[in-house]
Amino acid sequence: MSMTYLDNAATSFPKPEETYVFMDQFYRTHGVNPGRSGYDLCMETGQLVDDTRKLLARFFNGTDSDRLIFAYNSTDALNLALLGMLSSGDHAITTTVEHNSVLRPLYHLSQHAGVEVDHVPFDANGFVDPDALAARFKPTTRVVAVNHASNVIGTVQPIAEIGRRCREHGIRLVVDASQTAGKIPIDVQAMNVDVLAFTGHKSLMGPTGIGGLYVQEGVEIRQLRAGGTGVRSAQRAHLVEYPWRLEYGTPNVLGIAGLNAGLKWIEKTGLAAIDAHEMRLMRRLVDGLHEVPNVSLYCQDSLDNHIAVMAFNLDGFEAGNTGTILDVDHNIACRTGLHCAPMVHEQLGLDKIHGAVRFGIGPFNTDDDITAAIGAVGEIAAVRAKKMTRTRG
Ligand SMILES: Cc1ncc(COP(=O)(O)O)c(C=O)c1O
Repeated sequence: MSMTYLDNAATSFPKPEETYVFMDQFYRTHGVNPGRSGYDLCMETGQLVDDTRKLLARFFNGTDSDRLIFAYNSTDALNLALLGMLSSGDHAITTTVEHNSVLRPLYHLSQHAGVEVDHVPFDANGFVDPDALAARFKPTTRVVAVNHASNVIGTVQPIAEIGRRCREHGIRLVVDASQTAGKIPIDVQAMNVDVLAFTGHKSLMGPTGIGGLYVQEGVEIRQLRAGGTGVRSAQRAHLVEYPWRLEYGTPNVLGIAGLNAGLKWIEKTGLAAIDAHEMRLMRRLVDGLHEVPNVSLYCQDSLDNHIAVMAFNLDGFEAGNTGTILDVDHNIACRTGLHCAPMVHEQLGLDKIHGAVRFGIGPFNTDDDITAAIGAVGEIAAVRAKKMTRTRG
């Protein structure tokens, strides 16, 4: 039985063949340190880094590719942004739909840097109401940090509306696009986003260890680290210009090569086609699981403003046990537990039952994968129902 991979919300797997081929080929021929010397190979490697900056900046409709900075992943990028934007006495607003990549840096700032943090709950359908969020604005509010789409319940937040309210009050909007970059269009200008964090290894179809930020012009992020950039080495202080301002040490050339190939694959395939494919499978999955008795779905019925990520539980089963049976008996890979987003589970009351089972659909999933998942959950539910009848009898 071949594995059915439904853990694409954790990381996409497999990657497009182009990602593997280009990483292997580029690193074999150009595995040198970019931007440090003038020999041809070094210049060509630097060119790939710059080209990938340009591709990504264009992909997010940013106006200045120098303001596209590379980091390890979105967690690293969000730390750079939040710790570099907030100071003692500032107020920050976030939501209960966030991943720990936002919650924990903000918690750290609240505990150690005198930053006040508010968490706005999502509504019954999983959306953050821009007016409810704006109602928390204070004269000291500096930053709003919001998830573009939830990695648990899949809802896509009304970023443009939230951004509009932030702009009206001179508040900076930081958006965690970990789950959406490469799945649905992102336009930092139209969506009023000041700082966008992305990770390369999910829907951008690159490898792990690469991510970054797009920082709009006029947005100030303090430097938290300092080190080599390959530029103006005699200068004692770290460079203040982008991209070096927020980049430190030798970049992840292999990761950037993979991201470059992943992006080109997305552009060739088309975001609309990727989204249509994933959401068609998602509709089938949600409808199929609805038909299984004793399944609780934590997913709105309408899939408008949704990505292909959903969570569920089988009544009477701990999520972890369902996951183990899916893995051992059905060879289905998924994620169980709190999915690094504890407040989502707390708000849904799932923290007391150790979270939920999550399926995340990717561009290489097929109808057969969905049939297998619905069939497996159905079988687990049927075995349990039979046992319950016997116990009662
Ligand atoms: C919404 C969200 N934010 C942030 C992250 C963190 O991504 P990374 O581990 O690549 O930093 C994830 C990954 O699971 C996520 O789903």
